Amino acid sequence: MITSVINQKGGTGKTTTAVNLASALVQKKKKVLVIDLDPQGNLSYSLGINDFDHSISEALLQKKKISELIVEREGIDIVPTDQRLSKLEFGSKSKISEFMLRDALKKVRGYDFILIDCPPSLSSLTLNALSASHTVVIPIQLDVFSIQGLEQIMETIKEVKSSLNRKLKIAGILPVLVDGRKRLTTEIKDYVKQNFDVGLFKSEIRTNVKAAEAPSFGESVIKYAPASNSAKDYMKFCGEYLRVMKKIS
Ligand SMILES: Nc1ncnc2c1ncn2[C@@H]1O[C@H](COP(=O)(O)OP(=O)(O)OP(=O)(O)O)[C@@H](O)[C@H]1O
Ligand SMILES: [Mg+2]
Repeated sequence: MITSVINQKGGTGKTTTAVNLASALVQKKKKVLVIDLDPQGNLSYSLGINDFDHSISEALLQKKKISELIVEREGIDIVPTDQRLSKLEFGSKSKISEFMLRDALKKVRGYDFILIDCPPSLSSLTLNALSASHTVVIPIQLDVFSIQGLEQIMETIKEVKSSLNRKLKIAGILPVLVDGRKRLTTEIKDYVKQNFDVGLFKSEIRTNVKAAEAPSFGESVIKYAPASNSAKDYMKFCGEYLRVMKKIS
């Protein structure tokens, strides 16, 4: 099962979700591969990787095998990234195939889950991720601007489903950076339920300082602060993700 974590808006917890869902899946004895598809490299950095010899750009630009590009951290297999990948993000769309990542992943075997951390754009990199995926998880902050952005993501997913990847499904929308005291939060959740034809995960990820600290230590929050609200929220979300995946597949 291949899942992209997407949202074209910046700073909506995509990378934090990819890292900690991967870590939680490993805790549950799943074999997990994570692809850092963002040239910013936040996911690689978050797990203490600054090894530019191993990068997904080598697979996409030089046709190296994914299996030769893996770095292991916390029991998670990771394909890091580097700046060269941005060539694909902003290059001429007509010259870039949307199927490069799908084709590179075709030869990969032995994983229960492959997670793709997407850049904050709906560029050809994100289209590559969507073409290669079975499902998407959309982390959103429950504010008005995020809701505006959601319409754009839904439109892109609809287009991808009708052209590049018929089998693509939305696993769900994951509320992140949630401040339970805000009345707006509940109102926006209701709005999403009423206006979008997709599930909102029941689990949500609360704002918690440990989640923000963990990347500086090169660790998932599940390793860095296992008793924190963030670690608990991501473990709970992982359980729900597994149930949804079972239902979908
Ligand atoms: N639950 C949380 N509590 C507190 N801080 C968080 C939480 N989740 C994420 N953050 C922090 O918010 C910032 C943005 O998160 P993250 O990098 O995961 O978002 P992103 O969507 O991947 O961003 P980008 O669009 O730049 O790739 C980071 O500094 C991260 O540490
Ligand atoms: Mg990110």
